[in-house]
Amino acid sequence: MTAAAARAAELRRLLEDANHRYHVLDDPAIPDAEYDALLRELQGLEQANPELRTPDSPTQRVGAGILPGFEQVVHEQPMLSLNNAFSDEEVREFVQRIERQLGVADPAFSVEPKLDGLAISLRYEDGVFVRGATRGDGATGEDVTQNLRTIHAIPLTLRREATGSAAPAVLEVRGEVYMPRAGFEAYNARMRDTGGKVLANPRNGAAGSLRQLDPRLAAARPLSFYAYGLGVTAGFELPDTHSAMLQALKALGFPVSPEVAVASGVSGLLAYFARLGQRRDGLPYDIDGVVYKLDRYDQQAAMGYVSRAPRWAIAHKFPAQEQLTTVEAIEVQVGRTGALTPVARLAPVQVAGVTVTNATLHNADQIARLDVRVGDTVIVRRAGDVIPEVVRVIEDQRPRDAAGQPLHAPYVFPETCPACGSHTEAVRKVLRSTKAGGIEYAEGAAIVCSGGLFCPAQRKQALVHFASRRAMDIEGLGERFIEALVDFDYVRTVADLYTLTLDAFLEMKRLADERDDTVPETVKAGKVASKWAENLVGAIADSRQTTLERVLFALGIRDVGESTARTLARHFGALDPIMDASEAALVEVPDVGPVVAARIAGFFAEAHNREVVQALRDAGVTWPEGPPQRSAEGPLAGKTVVLTGGLSAMSRDEAGDRLQALGAKVSGSVSKKTSFVVAGEAAGSKLAKAEELGVEVWDEARLLAFLNDHPAP
Ligand code: IVH
Repeated sequence: MTAAAARAAELRRLLEDANHRYHVLDDPAIPDAEYDALLRELQGLEQANPELRTPDSPTQRVGAGILPGFEQVVHEQPMLSLNNAFSDEEVREFVQRIERQLGVADPAFSVEPKLDGLAISLRYEDGVFVRGATRGDGATGEDVTQNLRTIHAIPLTLRREATGSAAPAVLEVRGEVYMPRAGFEAYNARMRDTGGKVLANPRNGAAGSLRQLDPRLAAARPLSFYAYGLGVTAGFELPDTHSAMLQALKALGFPVSPEVAVASGVSGLLAYFARLGQRRDGLPYDIDGVVYKLDRYDQQAAMGYVSRAPRWAIAHKFPAQEQLTTVEAIEVQVGRTGALTPVARLAPVQVAGVTVTNATLHNADQIARLDVRVGDTVIVRRAGDVIPEVVRVIEDQRPRDAAGQPLHAPYVFPETCPACGSHTEAVRKVLRSTKAGGIEYAEGAAIVCSGGLFCPAQRKQALVHFASRRAMDIEGLGERFIEALVDFDYVRTVADLYTLTLDAFLEMKRLADERDDTVPETVKAGKVASKWAENLVGAIADSRQTTLERVLFALGIRDVGESTARTLARHFGALDPIMDASEAALVEVPDVGPVVAARIAGFFAEAHNREVVQALRDAGVTWPEGPPQRSAEGPLAGKTVVLTGGLSAMSRDEAGDRLQALGAKVSGSVSKKTSFVVAGEAAGSKLAKAEELGVEVWDEARLLAFLNDHPAP
């Protein structure tokens, strides 16, 4: 063997090894850059010495020339499908039929995720991948070998360690080609950036990729593979069970899902179904159910087949997450900060066990991208707890007139606020602002109503926020009543809540109940309301005694969350200095950047906002005020400190107060300007950042010693 041949063999081994560790063992050994360097070296060698090029070389994964079409492949052993179960009852019947027919109790099953991709069959002769085919109609499929070669998770040769000296003469491995979610998202993001065609979902992405006649296109798609079965074999010693066979495949170099397990009994199968169902949204790939397969091959043989599905296996499907329905209207909702969010009102449809009647359309850009119109048939999706969304329009089913023209024009986003008629403006959401004045914005812009508290929609949301637990904590004031308070004009500002009498609440509730069909007649006529109103008036009265940080948060100044409210309260000690603070004074507050400073100053520059504060005070809302908790002097004057992790002697807030009292500025994020970081128990990324930047780190003992030596002024 020449030196070049030896090096080529060595490189192939290294590359396939790296692949195997990445895809099968989930334990990557070398960085991508090194993999690429080795691959380029091999490509160079093969180019200089074409006789060294082998069909199983990793260089062949990049995709060769364009194919004229796909050859037909007859599956020597047909590729079967699975019967489905949609309920626990059907699973019970499946298990009972097996128990009855085999005369055994609690047989073992291999339990596996049902991957949502495309079934394929891979043929290895003497340890080398020679052909791969789609399922087709089960009897005949298409030869997609060139495209499958581009999938790094598919081994081009069987691993020698497992085969010993002799590889099986023939081994057909069956499994699913799928597109991992992350790859799907990244691919679509790239397509959006470059104006390319986006994929509808990962499954279509996988199927479409394999049907590309140009393997270079398939190579550009992020596909992967999991093995779950066998076709014909020769010279392969078959284990006794399916689960042992999967282990053998893994040893030969095939990726097998780490979720595969063995379970028995109906309860065992259903527990697996529930467990995987809970984790479904978090898995890196789409699954649409689980598969139960009788584990022992002799038991499988005894059960046999019915038409084209085995009697020894069943697919237990999750309720569908996507459904078709029609758009009855497109409406725009207004949030507390005035952001206009378009929603599709839908003909009610069951999606994954829940009736869906609304789905978010996110923003104007998304409506334009989807081209959703009233009357359209759309796919809605609901995953986990997230708000249902419209995924796609089925354009073929768009209602049209006799001339074939769409009945409805493209949706036009309103130019004025639908709740109050004020003009709207595009506001870019701030991701981050730096003290140096730099601002990072999120992609795209939100359309925002300029009406402020004049806008009833914003007024309602402002009241919901004001009354919420972490703000003024007024119990018993649900959204339905807040709507009624605004609609029937009982309140205009949050301060008006404190002027309402028991009778006013009772009257408002009667009006609210009257217009609400879901409230039973008996309740409308009943007198139980008085207790509710008494409690509510009590809760409102109790909320009068509050704290400065709660009031600041409750006012609903954009971008002033609880933690900013807290730092503002500490820094200034009282409300008046905050209301009168200049932007320059506000950026002095730890964690307040120029954007938030401008929001705060802008809020208090509005006369009506100052009036609300005055009205709250007049209504008896009070909070303790004190001196500012900062000092320009003291041993830590001019120092910026970050606290992270848990402290045992005091809370982080308390430690922050004491450091501030000594003149320190307490900040939430570590930068080069940080003087030191106090790292308590289980400190994480902030500690890492400090170490990376070479910022001094104190442990709790050092902090306590320092505080002990420097009693508060
Ligand atoms: S076994 C004889 N196992 O489901 C059994 N199939 O409806 C043949 N699938 O075409 C299939 N995950 O595309 C099996 N763990 C799994 C699977 C699985 C997904 C797909 C496969 C097949 C279809 C059957």
